[in-house]
Amino acid sequence: MPKITISNQANKVVVFNLNNESPVSILAILQENNIDWMHACGGNGRCTSCKCNIISGQSKLSNKSEVESSFFEAGKILDNQRLTCQTMPLGDITIEVPEKNKLPDVNYTN
Ligand code: FES
Repeated sequence: MPKITISNQANKVVVFNLNNESPVSILAILQENNIDWMHACGGNGRCTSCKCNIISGQSKLSNKSEVESSFFEAGKILDNQRLTCQTMPLGDITIEVPEKNKLPDVNYTN
C-alpha cells in the first residue's frame, strides 16, 4: 500500500488504500490516522493553513484544483507546496509541516 511520510514528525508513516475512482485528500488520510494538522477553513480550500511542503513524490500527486491554482498565482503557496485538503496522493510521498503552519501542541523534529 502507498504511504505518506511526515519528515518533521519523526518520519511518521501513514499507509492508505489507493482508490483511483474516488481518491482521498492528504488531509483526510491524516485525519483518519489521528494526526493533528492545521485546517482552519475545514478543508474547503479557502485558507491555505493546511499546506505542506513536498519533500518527495511531486509526480505522485493529483493535478492542482482550480482553487489551488489561484493560490499559487497569488503567491500564497510556493512551488514546493500543496494544500493537503485539495491534493490527492497517488503513490508514496514525503511531506513536512511548514514552519508557519505548525501547531503549538505538536512536537516536531525539525
Ligand atoms: S483547510 Fe483551508 S485550504 Fe485546506
